[in-house]
Amino acid sequence: MASPIRKAILPVAGLGTRFLPATKAVPKEMLTVVDRPVVQHVVDEARAAGIEHIVFVTGRNKAVIEDHFDRQYELEDTLKERGKLKELDALRAETMGPGMTSFTRQQLPLGLGHAVWCARDIIGNEPFALLLPDMLHMSRGRNGCLAQMVDAYAKTGGGNHIAVYEVPDDQTNQYGIVGQGANIGDGVFKISKMVEKPAKGTAPSNLAISGRYILQPEIFDLLENQERGAGNEIQLTDSMLKLAEEQEFYGVTFDGAIYDCGSKLGFLMANVAYALARPDIRGPFRHELNALLAANQRAAE
Ligand code: UTP
Repeated sequence: MASPIRKAILPVAGLGTRFLPATKAVPKEMLTVVDRPVVQHVVDEARAAGIEHIVFVTGRNKAVIEDHFDRQYELEDTLKERGKLKELDALRAETMGPGMTSFTRQQLPLGLGHAVWCARDIIGNEPFALLLPDMLHMSRGRNGCLAQMVDAYAKTGGGNHIAVYEVPDDQTNQYGIVGQGANIGDGVFKISKMVEKPAKGTAPSNLAISGRYILQPEIFDLLENQERGAGNEIQLTDSMLKLAEEQEFYGVTFDGAIYDCGSKLGFLMANVAYALARPDIRGPFRHELNALLAANQRAAE
């Protein structure tokens, strides 16, 4: 039987240059989608998939992320005094317990591969999940993206798993793309190839890597070499390609919508989509949004 996936890495040490000036002092992972920081949505997804321990790989100016996932004693006390028990219960229910989070510093943002390698000692010799916290995965069904992957991992009896989604054919050069090998069923297939940002017309498919992975610990030995790849960064894909020579890689087709909250457009769309999915505000929000769009349309005519 495959070892269970107990730990997850969330790399949050990037500079967020696409979101300046917002990210000068506030980490992009703390920007809010409706009323939850982006990184909280991703932690929710990880916990719903059974993850027990989250390793944040952080950097300078990111201390507020650590505070966000700590208990806020004064706030809890004030809520209690004011009788705001519903808010207090909600806060307590989602706070991770003592020892269930770890924070390690990347020190220099040398790339995603380097960020993952920084968590090697805390993860140890067991398979783990990796979730890119700026990519929000909004599932169509009841199971979140990582939960779908954990199911697929149990079905294949282990291996490495990568979530993928369809992108338009003329945009494959902007993504990591996988080739489709043997079909396992239920949207799961063997990966025959992985290419980072293939030149136009050379992509093996239109299935892009979405930012959710289950990886075996041998990846750390490969990342140890720390060779620089594209963009002079230590790329995760380069080490995954080496690992694929010895181990099986599976693609898990994600059934839902993906928002890249590291980009302005993706972040704005995530706010609209998540607000429209929230029963407490979707009615008035839809009304206001429709009015705004209609006024905008009239002004353009
Ligand atoms: P991105 O490339 O989207 O993040 O990395 P970035 O570098 O912060 O963004 P831009 O391009 O400058 O706007 C994907 C994820 O990997 C993390 C980022 O924090 C992000 O969550 N990352 C990236 C690291 O933790 N360390 C790195 O060296 C690079």
